[in-house]
Amino acid sequence: MTKRIAILGAGPSGLAQLRAFEAAGNAGAEVPDIVCYEKQSDLGGMWNYTWRTGLGAYGEPVHGSMYRYLWSNGPKECLEFADYSFEEHFGKPIASYPPRAVLRDYIMGRVEKSDLRRCIQFSTEVQWVEYSEETGKFSVTVRDLKADELSTEEFDYVIVATGHFSTPNAPYFEGLEQFPGRVLHAHDFRDACEFEGKDLLLIGSSYSAEDIGTQCHKYGAKSVTFSYRSAPMGYDWPSEFDEVPLLSHVDGRTAHFIDGTEREIDAIIMCTGYQHYFSFLHDDLTLRTWNRLYPENLYKGIFWIDNPKLMYLGMQDQYYTFNMFDAQAWYARDVIMGDIALPSTEEMTADSQKWVEHEETAKDPFAHIDFQAAYIRDLLGPTDYPEFDVEGMGELFKQWKRDKQADILGYRNKSYRSTMTGTVAPPHHTPWMEAMDDSLEAFLANESAPDESAPDVMGDAKTSAIKTDTAGADADDHSIEEERESA
Ligand SMILES: Cc1cc2nc3c(=O)[nH]c(=O)nc-3n(C[C@H](O)[C@H](O)[C@H](O)COP(=O)(O)OP(=O)(O)OC[C@H]3O[C@@H](n4cnc5c(N)ncnc54)[C@H](O)[C@@H]3O)c2cc1C
Ligand SMILES: NC(=O)c1ccc[n+]([C@@H]2O[C@H](COP(=O)([O-])OP(=O)(O)OC[C@H]3O[C@@H](n4cnc5c(N)ncnc54)[C@H](OP(=O)(O)O)[C@@H]3O)[C@@H](O)[C@H]2O)c1
Repeated sequence: MTKRIAILGAGPSGLAQLRAFEAAGNAGAEVPDIVCYEKQSDLGGMWNYTWRTGLGAYGEPVHGSMYRYLWSNGPKECLEFADYSFEEHFGKPIASYPPRAVLRDYIMGRVEKSDLRRCIQFSTEVQWVEYSEETGKFSVTVRDLKADELSTEEFDYVIVATGHFSTPNAPYFEGLEQFPGRVLHAHDFRDACEFEGKDLLLIGSSYSAEDIGTQCHKYGAKSVTFSYRSAPMGYDWPSEFDEVPLLSHVDGRTAHFIDGTEREIDAIIMCTGYQHYFSFLHDDLTLRTWNRLYPENLYKGIFWIDNPKLMYLGMQDQYYTFNMFDAQAWYARDVIMGDIALPSTEEMTADSQKWVEHEETAKDPFAHIDFQAAYIRDLLGPTDYPEFDVEGMGELFKQWKRDKQADILGYRNKSYRSTMTGTVAPPHHTPWMEAMDDSLEAFLANESAPDESAPDVMGDAKTSAIKTDTAGADADDHSIEEERESA
């Protein structure tokens, strides 16, 4: 009998899984019966921008944590699909740091080239998943949000691709109840213009703090104070920025820090990360972890060791993103299709423990990048995902780190060479600090020539995936259309 697979979520990870099966089907394999459940009205996951915060149109928690004017915080050359380059999609080389709409268009392009939408049930929220030892199957209960109807189906495999940057981790600080200004988590941040002329306090010292802080500065905030728990980011900040130790409490508009200093602030944004949160999973199936490179209890970072018919994609902290999700999806596919055999539970536990211990010895960002590259390399080995220069991409990530250290407000003006096509990106027509229009049209209206001065950090660039046809460059923003319809 044909196996049945449920994919939960149609973000980059869920789409990678659909694409992996499609590639097998194109190569003549008999593909299982697949249903992908997506609670939003369109695909793209986090890249599917919504103005909504809190609850969605049907009372479901809003998934999106992206905001207006968000530009990629890493070079696009580090997230390129090995089977679909940026050049193939846009028909020309584009600059290295695209805004959100451009990256979404790229993600959509690979999907729209195929017939994958037919597998996805949109506006359908997964509400409960449990496994029966008796039948050896999962029952997946979903709610059709538009019809407000529950239904349950049985599956042989479940792939959880619901992301882990949606449920805020929001610590409490004394006095917040009385604070007269806005207090919000990064998940609910949408428009930097709201904070024009304000003195902002951002708690946290990772990507959200850095990016929301620099963006608020770009759109006119008066000052940005970062409050760190473990360590400051340590960039060479302009005078409008400051890094201070952790907030101890607030008293009226005054923020007090644990070193005894204080300052007046107008608004507080908690950039304090997210929780892995799976309200739809039975306890026995629930991954419990913090945002780390190798979550425990997952063989190959994918298979739930106690029941490897349950898989998780994209649950790691992420340097690599889209191509790492592809590597995971190809591996998961090959296990489901019987092309890769899983070892015993003891061997899976030992292997996963080895990676966990290895992660614990990796102490700095360069070691973390090498760790994630080694992880991806390990996954790619037995699959037929197109070979790509994972380690060369790792060198690009290190260059990116150096570029940020040198100029935190200017690093997005840099160009990098694609490990897929060998092309060096052209510079963007406008320096990032002055680029206020983040639309796809404005970004693509770039006649600059490739920047041959870009450092060639990875030596011999791979040119295996050079293709010339274009596709999907003008994909509609379905979610916005559909939201208009339902409003
Ligand atoms: C603010 C922010 C900025 C980022 N910027 C970058 C960047 O510049 N570059 C980069 O490479 N990465 C970036 N990321 C990382 C980003 O998370 C990944 O690029 C990518 O979106 C992860 O894909 P995913 O499919 O694993 O998860 P997601 O993109 O989160 O997709 C998960 C999908 O599952 C669906 N879902 C969730 N729960 C349910 C349910 N119960 N039932 C049905 N469907 C459900 C969601 O609606 C969503 O569509 C950023 C993340 C954040 C939060
Ligand atoms: N433009 C972009 O592309 C963009 C923008 C924003 C975010 N992102 C992505 O979003 C993802 C999530 O990033 P993130 O920064 O939100 O999360 P994160 O990387 O997990 O960092 C969480 C931060 O919150 C701090 N923190 C946690 N609990 C705290 C507490 N109780 N008190 C004080 N500080 C606390 C942590 O401090 P410690 O160091 O002490 O643990 C850390 O600095 C990343 O993948 C990132 O790439 C991308």
